[in-house]
Amino acid sequence: MSTALIILAAGQGTRMKSDRPKVLHEVAGAPLLVHAMKAGAALSPDRTVIVAGHGADEVASAAQAHDDSVAIALQSEQKGTAHAVAQARDALAGFDGDALVLYGDTPFISPETLARMAEARKSHDVVVLGFEAADPGRYGRLVMEGGRLDRIVEFKDATEAEKAITFCNSGVIAAAAPRLFDLIDAVGNDNASGEYYLTDIIGLARDRSLSATAIACDEAETLGVNSRVDLSAAEAAFQARARTAALDDGVTLVAPDTVHFAHDTVIGRDAVIEQNVVFGPGVTVESGAQIRAFSHLEGCHVARGAVIGPYARLRPGAELAEDTRIGNFVEVKNAVIDEGAKVNHLSYIGDAHLGAGTNIGAGTITCNYDGVMKHHTEIGRNVFIGSNTMLVAPVTIGDDAMTGSGSVITRDVPEGALAVARADQAVKPGMARKLFEILKFKKAKRQKEAG
Ligand code: UD1
Ligand code: MG
Repeated sequence: MSTALIILAAGQGTRMKSDRPKVLHEVAGAPLLVHAMKAGAALSPDRTVIVAGHGADEVASAAQAHDDSVAIALQSEQKGTAHAVAQARDALAGFDGDALVLYGDTPFISPETLARMAEARKSHDVVVLGFEAADPGRYGRLVMEGGRLDRIVEFKDATEAEKAITFCNSGVIAAAAPRLFDLIDAVGNDNASGEYYLTDIIGLARDRSLSATAIACDEAETLGVNSRVDLSAAEAAFQARARTAALDDGVTLVAPDTVHFAHDTVIGRDAVIEQNVVFGPGVTVESGAQIRAFSHLEGCHVARGAVIGPYARLRPGAELAEDTRIGNFVEVKNAVIDEGAKVNHLSYIGDAHLGAGTNIGAGTITCNYDGVMKHHTEIGRNVFIGSNTMLVAPVTIGDDAMTGSGSVITRDVPEGALAVARADQAVKPGMARKLFEILKFKKAKRQKEAG
């Protein structure tokens, strides 16, 4: 069955108290909308339509940055969820597969749940995703008649008896796309909010002798974000799940609660992640690598046997091959570091390539930026860079070369050569003692003058 996703993302999210559209607030480094898109991707949709309104341009570019094949439908005035879905009609013209409606602010619907909905669709015309609410609050209530869903009643329009129902509407609905739009055409706005409710299609389906049902999922999956408190709860829920998943996959987390994952972090089994490690987006860590305490990684790849940190920072484009070592207070950006190379202390390696077996001494800096442009540093195999070397890019250091400590290297160093670029040492016998005397005399004089 071909599927189209319709993701509702036009609302303003007033309670976020934000200039940013609600669905662009992030959990685990990705916008809520992207989480919803990733959830829907479990059904391998043929089409995805994002219904945008508030901040539509920003919403569209965030959606298209994640998947450039999505269509954007504009809902310039928010007249309710049925009206929102109706805006997707043109984008889905001629599409006769299934449509699945998701909310852009509801990030955690699981693939298993969507698979169960698809299964239920085989025997029902309309399938709604419900959940048993611990606190039903203002959710729409699902009125079941046995296994059949009779109607959905919005809280504002519910009788006391209906309000007592705890089986609630998550908002996720599946039906054949042409049927969905047909039903929506019949939805009116004669209700307590004066809105076009998508939920009304269930009563309309019943009136047309179509069959509707609801399946239940865990309430945690339906967690929607309306406020910053909800956003922090969503982040906490994501992190808790990511930690458990990593442990289940065979990753050692020494102190799980202190590790922060991104939505796309990938870690191989037998990797060890120590305390207080932060993963930004785009990180892969291979089996058996070790990320030591207080390291911060984003957009990088760490191969087997590498040891990173403690206190290391890997920025986008850091590619660390097997058995490399990145030590404390080392920053690596856009640099490929080949097998067994070591950068152990207090260094900046940016826009560079380090050959296998090369050792970078403490305090080394690739001076990659001239104030206007970035330049590349190329370092060969088995090179020894002396401590506190400044490598002024663009510059190339050949295989098996060495630089003297404290050198400022501005010209290429050929293979096997030693480059020393610093002032010669002068030694003046007795001069230090003399200097101390002069300085002490000056200090005493100053104190006397000050009284
Ligand atoms: C909706 C459901 C309710 C359900 C609840 C679950 C309806 C009528 N009610 O209520 O049964 O229990 O969600 O959270 O569907 N949106 C638009 N355009 C609009 C209106 C809404 O894009 O014109 C988007 C919102 O941005 C949001 C989603 O649709 O992502 C739901 O809208 P919201 O106003 O939060 O609906 P609820 O009143 O919470
Ligand atoms: Mg809501």
